[in-house]
Amino acid sequence: MKRSQINYAIDKAHAIAATFRVCLPEFALFTAEAWREQPLEEWSEVLDLQLGWDITDFGRGDFSKTGLTLLTLRNGVLHSAAYPKPYAEKMLQIQQEQQTPWHFHAHKMEDILNRGGGDLCMQLGWATDDALFDEQRRVEVRVDGRWRTLKPGETLVLKPGQGVCLPPRLYHRFWAEKALVLGWEISMVNDDKRDNHFLEPGGRFPVIDEDVPVKWLLCHEYGRLNVT
Ligand SMILES: [Fe+2]
Repeated sequence: MKRSQINYAIDKAHAIAATFRVCLPEFALFTAEAWREQPLEEWSEVLDLQLGWDITDFGRGDFSKTGLTLLTLRNGVLHSAAYPKPYAEKMLQIQQEQQTPWHFHAHKMEDILNRGGGDLCMQLGWATDDALFDEQRRVEVRVDGRWRTLKPGETLVLKPGQGVCLPPRLYHRFWAEKALVLGWEISMVNDDKRDNHFLEPGGRFPVIDEDVPVKWLLCHEYGRLNVT
């Protein structure tokens, strides 16, 4: 992914949040330049837990087709005395027809919500013991507390206001139809380095082509602040 695309995606994400009247925490508003003027010791939780912007094309190289804009708002660390928070929260922005590819989480249970915009479409299926897609086993999930039964791979449409609870080891793939979707994730502790299993090759983070200067640091780039 080009740095210019990432800069633009975060500019746009701010504008979209404003359109939905979602106010963001202070750390989401800092450019790389603003971060360099901050007393970093006061921001240790944000830096250590990598709260902040996360733009990804899942290593596929075509952000408009396969990609996601995330803002991690809160998180913890499993079995940590310093960061014992057992839950996480993220804002998601899903462009129209932009998909997040098939994956499941070994540990994390997450609720994915459609907070407004178009339809949030999702396909679901259980992972087998060897992490393949189970074509047979029926999927039962709760959408806002109501049981829904689906065939493996059947599309579940979440209208604005609806949300689904995804247990661990349930493969999911989602995309937006009709318009961009402002999504939200409320989950157990999130560990993007270890807890994601993708069905197809790719990855969780983009490979970045530095074609222009960095305007916004991604949440996994805070290490650059220690380099003078
Ligand atoms: Fe997920």
